[in-house]
Amino acid sequence: MSIKDNPWDNLGKMFKAKSPEERANSASIDNIEIAWPIVLDIINKHFGDTKALKILDHGCGTGEFINKLHSLGYKVSGQDTSKWMVEAAKSNCPKDISIYDQPLTEIEGKFDVVTSIMVMQFIRNIEQTTIQLSNLLNEKGLLIAVVFNPLFVKNFVSVDIIFKDFDSKEKPEKGFLCLDEETRIPTYIRTAKEYNEVFSENGFKDFETYKPTFTKDFAQKYPEFISNFFAKYPEKDITKICEHLIVAGKKH
Ligand SMILES: C[S@@+](CC[C@H](N)C(=O)[O-])C[C@H]1O[C@@H](n2cnc3c(N)ncnc32)[C@H](O)[C@@H]1O
Repeated sequence: MSIKDNPWDNLGKMFKAKSPEERANSASIDNIEIAWPIVLDIINKHFGDTKALKILDHGCGTGEFINKLHSLGYKVSGQDTSKWMVEAAKSNCPKDISIYDQPLTEIEGKFDVVTSIMVMQFIRNIEQTTIQLSNLLNEKGLLIAVVFNPLFVKNFVSVDIIFKDFDSKEKPEKGFLCLDEETRIPTYIRTAKEYNEVFSENGFKDFETYKPTFTKDFAQKYPEFISNFFAKYPEKDITKICEHLIVAGKKH
C-alpha cells in the first residue's frame, strides 16, 4: 500500500501525543485509560510479574503503547502498515526498539505476547492476520486484541455520526469510520463470538472477553472528550457506554 492510499497517514496527528495536556485531548485517551489497564492485567494474569517477555504491538500507531510496555520493563517491538505512523513511532520511542513497516510475514523472531489495540476492526481478512500473528507467537503465547464493541458502533450508526454508511442499522458489520471530514476508513465490526471462532479455528484456545465501560472518573478527567464524542450519543449514562471489546486467546 502506498503512502497516498493509506488513510491512516492522514490521521496520525490525532493520535500523536506527548505532554499530558496533549494526551488528554488525543484520540487515544479512551484506549489509554479504559483499555490499556485491562490489557496489562491480562498479560499479568497469564505470565505473573515477570518482565522477561517479548511483546509485539501490532498496529502500533504512534507508539504510545510501545512506550508504556517499555517503561514497565518488557522487551517490545511494533509493526504498522502506515508509513506516517511508523515514522512517528520511531521518533516517539527509544531508538533500540524495532518498529516494522513491513508485512507481518517479514518479521523475524518469536514473541510471548502480541497486542493489537484498535486495529483488527480495520482489517477485512482477519483469518489471514490471525494466522500470521499466530506464526509470530511462541507456544502458549498470548494474542490480545482490542476492537470496537458492536453495540457502541450500532448506537453511533443510529445517529449517523462518526460511523457512516454502514450496511445495516440493526447489525452494522461493514461501513466507514469518519474521524475527520476527508478520511473514510473501511471498518468491519465483529462480535466476540465471531472473534472467538476465528481465533479458535486458527490455533488459539482459552478465549477471554472483556467489555469495560467508561467511568465517572474518566468523565470528570476528560470532559472535552465526552462532549466531543458523546453529545449526540443515544446513551447518556457514561457508566453504561462500552466502547471496547477486548478478546484474548492462548496459542496451542
Ligand atoms: C486506531 S489506530 C490505533 C493505533 C494504536 N494501536 C493505538 O492504540 O493508539 C489504528 C492503527 O492500525 C493500523 N493498521 C490498520 N490496518 C493495519 C494492518 N493491516 N496491519 C497493521 N496495522 C494496521 C493503522 O495504521 C493505525 O496506526
